Amino acid sequence: MNQLTLERPSAAAADAVRRRPRLGFLGVGWIGRHRMEAIAADGAAEVAALCDPEEQAFESALRNAPRAARAASFDALLEQPLDGIVIATPSALHAGQAEAALARGMAVFCQKPLGCTAIECRRVVSAARAADRLLAVDLSYRQTAAMRCIRRAVAAGEIGEVYAVDLVFHNAYGPDKPWFRDPQRSGGGCVIDLGIHLVDLALWTLGFPRVHQVESRLWAGGRALAPRPEVVEDHALAQLDMDGGAVARLACSWNLHAGRDAVIEASFHGTRGGVRLCNCGGSFYDFRAERFKGTRSILLAEPPDDWGGRAPVAWARRLAAGSGFDPEVERVVDVAAVLDAIYGR
Ligand SMILES: NC(=O)c1ccc[n+]([C@@H]2O[C@H](COP(=O)([O-])OP(=O)(O)OC[C@H]3O[C@@H](n4cnc5c(N)ncnc54)[C@H](O)[C@@H]3O)[C@@H](O)[C@H]2O)c1
Repeated sequence: MNQLTLERPSAAAADAVRRRPRLGFLGVGWIGRHRMEAIAADGAAEVAALCDPEEQAFESALRNAPRAARAASFDALLEQPLDGIVIATPSALHAGQAEAALARGMAVFCQKPLGCTAIECRRVVSAARAADRLLAVDLSYRQTAAMRCIRRAVAAGEIGEVYAVDLVFHNAYGPDKPWFRDPQRSGGGCVIDLGIHLVDLALWTLGFPRVHQVESRLWAGGRALAPRPEVVEDHALAQLDMDGGAVARLACSWNLHAGRDAVIEASFHGTRGGVRLCNCGGSFYDFRAERFKGTRSILLAEPPDDWGGRAPVAWARRLAAGSGFDPEVERVVDVAAVLDAIYGR
């Protein structure tokens, strides 16, 4: 006869289950669903509620979170007893939604950009600080093993003093949803979509030096844009002059004739060597890091590396451990200020 022994959970384990943060997911389209699945698979937090007006997006998220409640609107989501929300809606909605959730005492994990301008980002960060709630932003490329190696090498002085940085992000597919090309919903084009990652990677790697001068040029459909255009840019070049003398050159675009899906690179040139992140075979997901010394090259990191869910999982785990406001998030305001300068805002 089979005997089934049921063990009573220890008081500590029961307490841990009770304290698993309850999360709401606002926007479960492409990236929202991916981040939700990463958090669900990790198990540090509970997928308690979903909100998305698109039936198909909601239904396919629900398949991986069958016990989650459906909130019919953002206001209804805010009425739920939640510890935090994960925002992955069209970009221009983020700041207002994050502020509203923080005002309700919820922690927030937000897709980039946190806001369309530095002023918007600062407002959200201030709200998180005032409420003492954990706020994090998905600047996801920081999480790649390749970028972590590069940052470590630069911080350890392995390439000497960095004086030049080359940054490239071309998405030859271009965004596939209409809202990306509507400035009211996107807050901008390829700069706020892709350039934000490049600016963040440069500043994060160099320890956030002050950017004291920015020059830029923006295009749409091959035509140069005048300041404050009505349309979003699909190609951008910029040069950032940083305190300490380093200069970063940035190029990003949608729908460039690149001959592959994507070109993603970040090269740091120093007095004693260089390091470079580059995507493998046009991939959006696979990266290699190399260190250069003269004509020699050493491989620092290569695929496979499952990095996409690292930032949301880290946030969920910290929330479960009781973390409140982390001042590190203030750096998103510095990044947003550089984007403002690129846009001439
Ligand atoms: N961190 C990264 O590397 C990364 C990568 C891709 C996308 N993103 C960001 O994620 C966000 C979403 O991008 P996506 O490609 O998943 O877009 P998407 O269009 O696939 O998903 C957005 C979802 O939000 C829903 N939505 C719209 N308005 C809403 C509202 N008021 N309340 C709730 N849901 C609403 C839509 O129905 C849709 O399902 C963007 O801000 C984008 O910049 C970040």
